[in-house]
Amino acid sequence: MHHFQFQNPTKIIFGAGQISNLSSNIPQGSKVLMLYGGGSIKHNGIYEQVKKSLSAYEFLEFGGIEPNPRYETLLKAIEYIRKENVDFLLAVGGGSVIDGTKFIAAATYYQGDAWDLCNGAKAIKAMPFGTILTLPATGSEMNCGAVISRESSHEKLVFSSPLVYPTFSILDPTVTLSLPPRQRANGVVDAFIHVTEQYLTYPVDAAVQDRFAEGLLLTLIENGKIYVNEPENMEAASNIVWASTLALNGLIAVGVPEDWGTHMIGHELTALTGLDHARTLATVWPRLQMALKESKKEKLLQFAARVWNITEKTEADPNLRISQAIANTDQFFQSLGVKTHLSDYGLALGLGEQIAERFSKRGVLNLGEKGEITPNLACQIVNQSY
Ligand code: NZQ
Ligand code: ZN
Repeated sequence: MHHFQFQNPTKIIFGAGQISNLSSNIPQGSKVLMLYGGGSIKHNGIYEQVKKSLSAYEFLEFGGIEPNPRYETLLKAIEYIRKENVDFLLAVGGGSVIDGTKFIAAATYYQGDAWDLCNGAKAIKAMPFGTILTLPATGSEMNCGAVISRESSHEKLVFSSPLVYPTFSILDPTVTLSLPPRQRANGVVDAFIHVTEQYLTYPVDAAVQDRFAEGLLLTLIENGKIYVNEPENMEAASNIVWASTLALNGLIAVGVPEDWGTHMIGHELTALTGLDHARTLATVWPRLQMALKESKKEKLLQFAARVWNITEKTEADPNLRISQAIANTDQFFQSLGVKTHLSDYGLALGLGEQIAERFSKRGVLNLGEKGEITPNLACQIVNQSY
């Protein structure tokens, strides 16, 4: 296991009805700005619950943060915050609203072009913020990363800073009741792939991290279909909510190599085509694993045995065990209703070349735990994903 330091300061408040605990977690006397998306919270009762819990505070609202939050919209929120002297932010939404809020929290204090924060500039200060998660998927509610889209240049880039961990996140599984099947399925796939990006690399004798990762993958497999098909099943929803938070809160990444290749290619696919985040991942993941199956052999065999129960006893040939495990995962995504080929979404050919060119220009030359994903290999992987 590699050396590591681990600190995650986000307080989690889990359970049905916990939005009523909001006020005990926001400093008294704060001027609060509540941020939300396209309005789903106004149809499912969450908006009213939040307003009621904030009644003791002076608070303002900023709605309209898009899925794949747009830099241009976030700049408007920053202007509003500066004008109104807001000092606490409350994100009420999925990954997009939470990510947008993280960016706003840091960019409000950043001198200079705020887009620099998505190109590696260091945040100097951030406004404190809490979240009420409405869509289990990204893990953004308990991590310090955000992914921001810039419409004018069709870019989608990552911003991260230890200053933007939420101070608290309320995880009420009943908020999932109003989620459409597409968002449910997307969330399960996204969380599943987050785990694999921290697990399917090479072994470093990190037994705890491996077992945690396998436990999360099995939980997502065992509860995924129930959660998508039976919205009223709160046991399944609770398990999916907690599994997706733990999938990307830093815990399973400590001391192990990581491969964010699927995500980096996926972000480009969303930037170029608008395809949902999880759907880009579902198309790239099977092809990326196949392309790197020699390099990832030991962990892929462990994945086959411990997650899919494919062992020497059921299949003697290790190569076949690996391709069977990848095929089972592909099938699992499809069983949730997420298609796994770019052609299923009607996307035109040529995306591989465009992404390779973008990576080359940006200096993204060696993705993956061993740096093997060159722009050329990324191009091949995308082109095999049609
Ligand atoms: O905008 P509203 O009206 O709220 O509707 C949203 C949106 O249309 C809707 N929704 C959310 N909660 C709902 C609901 N509809 C009904 N009932 C509810 N309870 O769902 C739609 C999608 O929301 P969005 O927030 O975009 O989805 P998700 O949580 O999947 O977030 C995706 C974004 O997160 C980024 C992605 O790249 C993408 O931009 N990611 C962030 C990560 C992070 N910060 O760590 C990691 C991820 O890998 C990912 O890249
Ligand atoms: Zn993701």
